[in-house]
Amino acid sequence: PKQNVNVNTIQMKSYACQRRTPLKHHNSHLTEALEVLSENAAYGENEGRSVAFRRAASVLKALPYRVQTMDELKCLPCLGDHSQRVIKEILEDGTSREVESMRQSEQFQAMKALTGIFGVGVRTADRWFREGLRSPSDLIRTGQQLNREQQAGVLYYDELNKPVTKHEADLIGDIVKEAVSAVLPGAEIQLMGGFRRGKELGHDVDFLITHPEEGKEEELMPKIISWLEERDLLLYQKTTRNSYLEKKDAPGRPPNNMDRFERCFSIFKLQGHAETTGSDGVRPSNQSEASYWRAVRVDLVVSPYSQFAFATLGWTGSKLFERDLRRWAGQEKHMSLSSHALYDSVQRCYVRAQSEEEIFEYLGLEFIPPCERNA
Ligand code: CTP
Ligand code: MN
Ligand code: MN
Ligand code: MN
Repeated sequence: PKQNVNVNTIQMKSYACQRRTPLKHHNSHLTEALEVLSENAAYGENEGRSVAFRRAASVLKALPYRVQTMDELKCLPCLGDHSQRVIKEILEDGTSREVESMRQSEQFQAMKALTGIFGVGVRTADRWFREGLRSPSDLIRTGQQLNREQQAGVLYYDELNKPVTKHEADLIGDIVKEAVSAVLPGAEIQLMGGFRRGKELGHDVDFLITHPEEGKEEELMPKIISWLEERDLLLYQKTTRNSYLEKKDAPGRPPNNMDRFERCFSIFKLQGHAETTGSDGVRPSNQSEASYWRAVRVDLVVSPYSQFAFATLGWTGSKLFERDLRRWAGQEKHMSLSSHALYDSVQRCYVRAQSEEEIFEYLGLEFIPPCERNA
C-alpha cells in the first residue's frame, strides 16, 4: 500500500478531531510502546506528559501506511523528542529497551493491577504501592479499608478484566431495552463508547437513554434500576442525579470533562451463554448450569432530548478525540463544548443541534463518523 502513498504530501492535521482514525491501523508496534509511556506518566500523575505520548501514538494510528524510516515522520505533528527516540529504537532494533524495562518493572505492573480494580484511581493505587501492596489479593490479605465500589471491584476483579465481547454488549443491550421500554414506553436507547466506534471488545458497555418528549426522561434511572434489581440482574450500581443547569454550568467556566447527566455506573449479572464457557467448552465447575453468569461493567446515562446530540458526541469517544474536540472548540473557535451544550463566546449564545453532523458543522470541522474516531 505504501507505494501508492507519497509520504511527503500527507497533510496530518494536529487536532485528533480533524483526522480520520480507524480502529485497525498500520503501526501498532509503535503505538503500543508509546501508550506504555503514556500509561506510566499517568501513574506518576503527570497528565501533560501522558497526553503528549497518547497524541504521538494517535498521529501514527491515522497514518495510512506502516512507518519504516524516521524520514517519514518529518512532517508529522505531535511527535516530541522522547517519542521520536523510542520510535527510532523500535525501527532499528525491533523493540525499545526503555519501554520493555518499564513494562517489566514492579511499579508499572503493580500500578496496572491496582488501577485495574473498579473504583481505584492512580492516587489510591500509588499509596497502596508505597505501602508495599501489589495486587488485589494483597488488599484482601492485609484487610485494607475499601469502599463499596472497590469491594465490588476486588470481588469481580478477574471477570471485569476480561474483555466484554460485542455479543455480550448486544445481550446487555437487549436487557436494557426491555427495562427501559417497561418503565418508560417510547424511550430511545443507543449503544455508545467503544462499541459505537466499531470495537469488537471493550472494558464496559455504555448506553445513552432519552425520550422524544422533553421532561419524560426525568428521574428515569431509579425506575430502570428497580426493574433490573427486581430481576436480580445487578451486582452493583451507583446512581447520580442530573445536576446540569445551563446558567450555572457552561460559559466562562473552566471546561469540565465530567458531565452532569443522570447516570449509573453498574455491574451487570449477565446470565450464562455459549461465549462465557471456557476455551474447552466446559463451564467453570464452581457454578451450576442454573446459576451460571458473569460480571460486566455497564454505564447508563440519561439525557434530555434537547441535549441528546451533544451527549451522543460526548459519549462516543475516544477520550483523546473528545479532548481535542473541546480543545478545538476553545482554542480555534472561541466556543465551549460539553456533553450538554455548545456555547459560542463570540455570539454569546448557545447553539442548538439535533445531530452530531450539525455540531461538527458549527465547529467548522469535517464530519468524522464514529468508526473513524478511534484516536
Ligand atoms: N465518559 C464521560 N464521563 C465519564 C466517563 C466516560 O464523558 N465519567 C465518556 C468518555 O469521554 C468516552 C465515553 O464516555 O467518550 C466512553 O468511555 P469509556 O467507556 O471509558 O471508554 P470507551 O471508549 O468506551 O472504551 P472501552 O472499550 O475501554 O470501554
Ligand atoms: Mn489503512
Ligand atoms: Mn466503554
Ligand atoms: Mn464507560
